[in-house]
Amino acid sequence: MIILGIETSCDETALCLLETRQTKTVENDGHKNAMTESNLEYRILGNIVHSQIDLHREYGGVFPALAKREHIKNLPILYKKLLEKNKTEASQIQAIAVTHGPGLEPALWTGIDFARELSSKLSVPLIPVNHMEGHIISTFFESSTPSAKFKELKTVTFPALALLISGGHTEIVGIEKLGSYEILGQTKDDAVGEAFDKVARMLGLPYPGGPEISRLAEEERSAQEMRKEKNRRVIAPISKTASRKPITLPRPMLHSKDLNMSFSGLKTSVLYLLKNIEKENMTEDIRKEIAREFEDSVTEVLVKKTREALENHECKSLIIGGGVIANTHIRQAFEKLSSEYSIPLYLPAKGLTGDNALMIALSGALTPDVPSAQSPLNIKAHGNLSL
Ligand code: KG4
Ligand code: ZN
Repeated sequence: MIILGIETSCDETALCLLETRQTKTVENDGHKNAMTESNLEYRILGNIVHSQIDLHREYGGVFPALAKREHIKNLPILYKKLLEKNKTEASQIQAIAVTHGPGLEPALWTGIDFARELSSKLSVPLIPVNHMEGHIISTFFESSTPSAKFKELKTVTFPALALLISGGHTEIVGIEKLGSYEILGQTKDDAVGEAFDKVARMLGLPYPGGPEISRLAEEERSAQEMRKEKNRRVIAPISKTASRKPITLPRPMLHSKDLNMSFSGLKTSVLYLLKNIEKENMTEDIRKEIAREFEDSVTEVLVKKTREALENHECKSLIIGGGVIANTHIRQAFEKLSSEYSIPLYLPAKGLTGDNALMIALSGALTPDVPSAQSPLNIKAHGNLSL
């Protein structure tokens, strides 16, 4: 089946053409289970992610009305480009999968409207997809590069546990099987990505802040290593009193007895820290140290909560999805955790950490009984859709 994926929940206009085919049918409780991922092979025909970041940067975040205008302008252009580049006729498309939430409603509607019109023109089913389920399923691809050959999806064994960390969400999800989700814990306020973006802004860094903070934090870690090395080489250690007090930030809700998290207080702590530093005393080194301490704090909280979830819930696979898992330090921390627990870890391949249409198309393809009976007109945008 050739499936067109459409994603417009935030500031990326993403479209893709994904071909899937059945390899074997897996028996589950005596019923044929079309939802088991291992019975599908895939071939990426085309994949476009058009980012609006440069336009939103001057607002310091995503500006919904602008996102809507840009999606409306770009969708038909990118769709045409996708078909032309991949020498595909519109008539070859057999289904369309579109994100219907969660996300910015005006942005979601642009994708839904475009998909509805196309599905009626081509007379193909329209499958609504939950964006967060997309982030879970993004980890099933071996790679995001188009290829002529069919590839197998990674085999994920259930029950699984997923940590979803993005600009709008931070949640720990119990997955009994695909389509059956339970939120075990989540942030009570800001999402992790949002905290990265806000702290970056306070430090005078551009949007999106995640990659910027990560860059500074890595520079600080290398500098720290070099300082340690230098100290080892001198016979008398460099006097500690000469240097200033190290910057410390809290680890919010680290010891709460649940799987919930909070990142808004951490952001406020950075704000107070900055207020206490005279402008003329602010140096690049201090900014790097704040970035490193912030990243360490977030990582420690995410790992601790996931560890607790692993300890208390039956789970055979650990899945981490969402834009924040592009972060090298966080990725390494979870690689360590997974080897400590000898549990297979599923992370999105390069190009699939952020928002993309491939994860939406694959979620659509894995939906049991493509809802051909569902009228595209009943598909609506749900800004707060949960799993
Ligand atoms: O999943 P995503 O692309 O969009 C949403 O669904 O929200 O996530 C975007 C978030 C942004 O907040 C961005 O700052 C963050 O992911 N992000 C990162 C990194 N790259 C992107 N956060 C930390 N480190 C990174 N390297
Ligand atoms: Zn996302």
